[in-house]
Amino acid sequence: MTDNRQILLIEKPTGKLGPEHFKMSSAARPEPKDGEALLRVRYISLDAANRAWMHGATYRSAVEANSVMAGGGIAEVVSSKAEGLAPGDIVFADTGWQDYAALPAKHLTKMPKIEPLTYLLSVYGIAGLTAYFGLLDIGKPKAGETVVVSAAAGSVGSIVGQIAKIKGCHVVGIAGGKDKCHWLTAELGFDAAVDYKDGALFKALRAAAPKGIDVYFDNVGGEILEACLPQMNNYGRIACCGAISQYDGAPQATGPRGVPGLIVVKRLVMQGFIVMDYMKERDRALADLQGWVASGQLKVQEDIIDGLENTPKALIGLLAGENRGKRMVKV
Ligand SMILES: NC(=O)c1ccc[n+]([C@@H]2O[C@H](COP(=O)([O-])OP(=O)(O)OC[C@H]3O[C@@H](n4cnc5c(N)ncnc54)[C@H](OP(=O)(O)O)[C@@H]3O)[C@@H](O)[C@H]2O)c1
Repeated sequence: MTDNRQILLIEKPTGKLGPEHFKMSSAARPEPKDGEALLRVRYISLDAANRAWMHGATYRSAVEANSVMAGGGIAEVVSSKAEGLAPGDIVFADTGWQDYAALPAKHLTKMPKIEPLTYLLSVYGIAGLTAYFGLLDIGKPKAGETVVVSAAAGSVGSIVGQIAKIKGCHVVGIAGGKDKCHWLTAELGFDAAVDYKDGALFKALRAAAPKGIDVYFDNVGGEILEACLPQMNNYGRIACCGAISQYDGAPQATGPRGVPGLIVVKRLVMQGFIVMDYMKERDRALADLQGWVASGQLKVQEDIIDGLENTPKALIGLLAGENRGKRMVKV
């Protein structure tokens, strides 16, 4: 029975990602081997990094043409030949874009059964943990300091800004378009928001962060990083989380300007991080995140698209800035 719908990446894009790079297919439902569990995928996480994986190996191996598109997801165990996993258990795994996957237990993270389940991908998932550890461990914000975050209306960025507010900082979000900027200040409590598509980024950033920037949480790299660098205060910290501006299409040939000159003169610390390195400390982060959600200090924004067949469109849309908060697909 070929009831396992799958979305294949049929060709790696050289320019912008489009629907032509994907194909819907179907295969037999896989049989779990010893040590594996059969999973029914419930929600697929849409991440800017999905596009970055098409360029080559990163912190994980590259996704290859003619294979099921890779991606993290929340899934339910259907049957198990692995110790410690039983039907009905909820796991997070790199399930790929498909209905069913059979995966070794060592590649699955057992998750609590919470309501709504989607929080396991948003605030209590990779997005929330990335925001938490990147901001607090690398950015080290102190009350009264100015924190700037790019892709601020996205899944990671919207949480970064809210945690920075909780820590007593002056928070500036950078996002595309007036509506998103209004949402950041009116709904999420950011002190200011800058529309990077408006053409006067440097000046607008100066007005929004008049005392300079102490912490820049960089989700995008490129021109926005270049605009932030000269506005960093001495001993400022830049948490390099990702580089969305470089993912979809050919990366820019040069830049950003100011590296390393400004880093030296301003004594900046610029550090990359991968959230997986913090998994041993996850419980501490989850306790804080849960507390803030419960007290209403941290608002959870999710953007749920219905239907596996819409996953390619949902990723293409995310790269174009369609989403607010955590985008995912309900399978
Ligand atoms: N280091 C880690 O461990 C780790 C873990 C998870 C995610 N990440 C990184 O976190 C960042 C956020 O990823 P996400 O998956 O949560 O995506 P997201 O922020 O939910 O969505 C991507 C957003 O990026 C913005 N964007 C797209 N192109 C842009 C450009 N050229 N310049 C500026 N903004 C642009 C769009 O919003 P606008 O409308 O504002 O343009 C879009 O909504 C990515 O860099 C990702 O790689 C890192």
